[in-house]
Amino acid sequence: MPDSLADRLGAVERDAKPSLTRQLADVFAAAIASGELEPGVKLPTTRELARLASVNQLTAGRCYRLLQDQGLIVSAVGRGTFVRAAAASALDEADASWQTYALSPPRGGYAGRMLGESVQHATSGQLIAMSVGYPSSEQIPLVALEQAVRETLEAKPLASFEYCPIEGTDELRGELAALGRTRGMSDVTDGIVITTGARHGLTLSARAILRPGDVAACESPTYMGMIDALRATGATVLPVDVDEHGFNVDALERLLRSHEVRVVALQPRGHNPTGTDLSRERRERLLALARRHGFFVLEDAVYADLRYDGEDPGPLRAMDPAHVVYVDSLSKTVAPGLRAGWVAASGPVLDRIITEKRDDDAHCATLPQLVAARFLADGRYPSQLAGARQLYRARRDALLEALDTELPGLGTFVRPRAGGHVWVTLERACDDEQLYRAALAAGVSYIPGPAVLVEPPRATQLRLSFTSVTPERLREGVQRLAATIRAQPHAPLQRHTLPVA
Ligand SMILES: Cc1ncc(COP(=O)(O)O)c(C=O)c1O
Repeated sequence: MPDSLADRLGAVERDAKPSLTRQLADVFAAAIASGELEPGVKLPTTRELARLASVNQLTAGRCYRLLQDQGLIVSAVGRGTFVRAAAASALDEADASWQTYALSPPRGGYAGRMLGESVQHATSGQLIAMSVGYPSSEQIPLVALEQAVRETLEAKPLASFEYCPIEGTDELRGELAALGRTRGMSDVTDGIVITTGARHGLTLSARAILRPGDVAACESPTYMGMIDALRATGATVLPVDVDEHGFNVDALERLLRSHEVRVVALQPRGHNPTGTDLSRERRERLLALARRHGFFVLEDAVYADLRYDGEDPGPLRAMDPAHVVYVDSLSKTVAPGLRAGWVAASGPVLDRIITEKRDDDAHCATLPQLVAARFLADGRYPSQLAGARQLYRARRDALLEALDTELPGLGTFVRPRAGGHVWVTLERACDDEQLYRAALAAGVSYIPGPAVLVEPPRATQLRLSFTSVTPERLREGVQRLAATIRAQPHAPLQRHTLPVA
């Protein structure tokens, strides 16, 4: 703040009319009008203003409220008070710059930014996009879906465009309950809630279970949306590491000694990003702990059906439906644009999830639900899945082969049994942001480890996704990436870029 302005604030007259509040406000208003205080400038805190003007803090606060009422300044909780970008008298309806000061700091931090960038990269067409787990476009069953749309509109023209129950249409819920029964779950139509993709299923489940200040344990690394869904409730999210047998139940057990955990969130089959399955022994111990300590297990299964090796161990929900809330979608296996996600749950938590759904958006769009139900009812899912597994297995193998060739001496990786990703750990730590920018410059994108970790990184790690990239491009991408890694200087791990736990 200019010295002369500080002097004028200090020169307000104590016993004069108008009031001290008004005199201070007039000094600021004149400085704003003359341009001495430019739009966006941060003003002193009320404590500083009180000291400068030798008034009490209440008077300083009243001065700022008066200026705010006049549209001259804006306050943002936790950030401070600023001169409005466009003072009220000159406010242009199309100028949205004032919002920068009016909004509280953005959520999501580094992980949110990476997610946003990775989506842009995937659709830009300029890069070898190993950053997203999108299904390959040739794998989307266009002909079958077109037919399902036509048949739905013929059979249910009016219902397709009407409201449906909050939980979703009976048709789709019935089909998904039947699909669940083929996986060993005992769900019926009433235990299923349709959501806008699995992402929304995670949000609704997290909100149904958690309140601000609660503790959630979450596998780490994991899907970025899982971390965001848990954190958005205001809960504290604590990490549990993942090794080649999946979620580390020993680590959870240690955590339970000092924390009252309300929910444990994980992908026990086809884990994103390691592609591991939770071993039988760990599954049993996890559920025994859930029963002993009384916590929920939030099971995300979106990649479980994309299995390339080994036997499917089946959903955790099949083993303990009272403790496990199950989230899934047709996004990875059929078509993400259908946004056909669902939650399977039992007991009071199911009612809470339905209430959260009602409060959000009343219900998912009816037509896509009916189309998805018809696709499933026509018995198309098994052959769709077989095609997806064949295509993605070839891509996974191409990526692993390229990594086997290029990575020795640079890093190690986990061979995924299922899913759409490979998790790579570099031998030498380097600056995450610098490596990522260099890879982009070399025409390759991936997800940097810190974006999918709950805790600060212990190594430089990369998530490489293979479902939407052809084998040739995967090979090319790995070669470019390896050259980029080789050229990177060693650097200590950057902790400041991390999302705050
Ligand atoms: C592990 C995991 N869970 C959930 C989702 C969200 O899926 P949907 O597209 O159905 O919202 C994703 C998407 O990438 C994911 O990787």
